[in-house]
Amino acid sequence: MSEEKKLTTASGRPFYEKEDSLTVGRRGPILLEDYVLHESMAHFNRERIPERVVHAKGSGAFGTFTVTNDITKYTRAKMFSEVGKKTDMLARFSTVGGEKGSADSDRDPRGFALKFYTEDGNWDLVGNNTPVFFIKDPKKFADFIHTQKRHPFTNMKSQTMRWDFWSLNPESLHQVLILMSDRGTPYGYRHMNGYGSHTFSMINANDERFYVKFHFKTDQGIKNFTDEESVKMAGENPDFAQQDLLEHIEEGKFPSWTLKIQVMPEEEAKNYEWNPFDLSKVWPHSDYPLIEVGKMELNKNADNYFAQIEQSAFAPAHIVDGIGYSPDKMLQGRLLSYPDAHRYRLGANYEQIPVNRCPYAVNNYQRDGFMTVTDNGGRSENYFPNSFDNITKAEEYKQKPPRVTDAEADWYDRNASVSGDDDHYTQPGNLFRLMNDEAKSNLVKNTVGSMSQIDGPKKEQITQRQLMHWYKADQELGERIAEGLGVKIKH
Ligand code: HEM
Repeated sequence: MSEEKKLTTASGRPFYEKEDSLTVGRRGPILLEDYVLHESMAHFNRERIPERVVHAKGSGAFGTFTVTNDITKYTRAKMFSEVGKKTDMLARFSTVGGEKGSADSDRDPRGFALKFYTEDGNWDLVGNNTPVFFIKDPKKFADFIHTQKRHPFTNMKSQTMRWDFWSLNPESLHQVLILMSDRGTPYGYRHMNGYGSHTFSMINANDERFYVKFHFKTDQGIKNFTDEESVKMAGENPDFAQQDLLEHIEEGKFPSWTLKIQVMPEEEAKNYEWNPFDLSKVWPHSDYPLIEVGKMELNKNADNYFAQIEQSAFAPAHIVDGIGYSPDKMLQGRLLSYPDAHRYRLGANYEQIPVNRCPYAVNNYQRDGFMTVTDNGGRSENYFPNSFDNITKAEEYKQKPPRVTDAEADWYDRNASVSGDDDHYTQPGNLFRLMNDEAKSNLVKNTVGSMSQIDGPKKEQITQRQLMHWYKADQELGERIAEGLGVKIKH
C-alpha cells in the first residue's frame, strides 16, 4: 500500500474533524468558526462552470498521430515532416444541441475536435462527423442554434422551429439530409468519420498555397443506430458513447482513424465549378481524390474528466506554420468565436490549463489576469521589443499573406447565383441517389418522423416549403416524404 497521507484543508492544514460539525452541545447549533465546514460547502457551490454553449455533452481521450505518407510537397508543417513521425494529441467528440446531461444517441451532428501538440504550437482541427454544415455565413449561427435548443415559451425542443429555419434557409438541405439519414445517429463515437469540413490551406517550403479538406476515416467501419435503436438507447443508457469509448480504450482496444486530404492548387480555386469556400458543398472525390496522410489512434483515457476534457478548449484559429485558413466565411467567423467563448467559459488564461497548454515553448508578453497559474514570466520583461531578453520574431515563420480577390466590401448575398451559390439541390440530390434502398427508406422514415411533429398555425406553410426543397433535390425523395406525411405537394 502507498504511504498514508494526511487529510488537509485546501491550504494544507492537516485536520481530523471531517465528518462532524462543531456544535454547542451534542444537540445544539453549529458554531461559525467551523471553517472546514465553510470551505467544503463554499467550494461545492462553485463546482459548476458554464457548459459549452453548443457541444455541451462530450467525451474525449488522448492519443497519437503517426504520418504514413509523405505530403511535404503540400505543407511544411513539422507534424508532417517525415513518414513515421508521431505527435501527441487529444480528441473530444460531442453532440451539438443537447445540454451536458443529454443522451449521447440523440439525432444530431457529432463534434470531432482534435488538438495536436506539435512542436510549432498546438494545432486544433475542430470539425464534425459531416463534411458540410447547415449555414454558410456566421451571422446566421446564433439564430440557427436557437432553433436547435429550447423554445423560449415551452422550454422544450421544437421540431417546428427547426423545420421553419431549415425550410427558410435551403442552403441547409445537404446537411439536413445527412442528419436525417442514419448517419445522424452514429453508434457511439468510434464508428464515425470526422471532417475538418471547411476548406483550409497548406503552405509548402516554397511558400506555395494549396487548399485542402481534411477527412478522418474510421478504421472501425461506419456503424449507425436506426432511429428506433437510438431512441431506445437514449432511455437505456444516455451515456452510451462515453462508456463505449472509455471501455474500449481501458481494454486496450484502441480506436483509430486514417487521415486523408483532398488538395486543390490555389489557382484552381478561382474557376472550380463549386465555390470551394462554401461550407454547404463538398468537393466530389472524382475531382479531388483522397490522399492518405497518416493514422490517429486514441490510446489513453483522461484520468480526470473535468480537468482534461471539460476544460479542454479547441479553436479553429489555432493553426501552425504550414497550415492556414481560407476565405470560407464560416471559418472566418469561427476564428473569432471560439477563443472568445473560452475566455468566457474558462477565463482569460485558459491556455495555461495543462490540457490546453503547449508542451513546447510559449514565449510572449501576456501577463496577469484571473487565474494566472504559471510563474507569469517571473522577473522577465513584459514588453516588446526590449533590450534584455532573447526572444526574437523568427523570420522563418513569416506567413504567406492571404490573397483577397474582391476590393469592394459589401454585404454580399451568400446565395447569389455565382459559382452555384444558389444551387442547394444538386449535391444533396446526388447523395440521395447514391444511397442503397435501405438507406433511402430510413432517410424517408426518419424525415417523416421528424417533420410530422411540426405543429401550430404555420404547420402547412412550413411543411410545404420544406417539401419543395426535398422535391427539388430529388423528385422521388420529395414524393416519398410527402406520401409519408400524407401531404399533396402544391406545384
Ligand atoms: C459560424 C459558425 C460557428 C460558430 C460561431 C460556432 C461556435 C461555437 C462555440 C461558441 C462553441 C463552444 C466552444 C466552447 O465553449 O468550448 C462551439 C463548439 C464546437 N463547434 Fe462550433 N461554431 C460554428 C460552426 C461550427 C462548425 C461548422 C463546426 C464543424 C465543422 C463546429 C464544430 C464545433 C465543435 C466540434 C465544438 C466542440 C469543441 C469541443 O469539443 O470542445 N462548429 N462552436
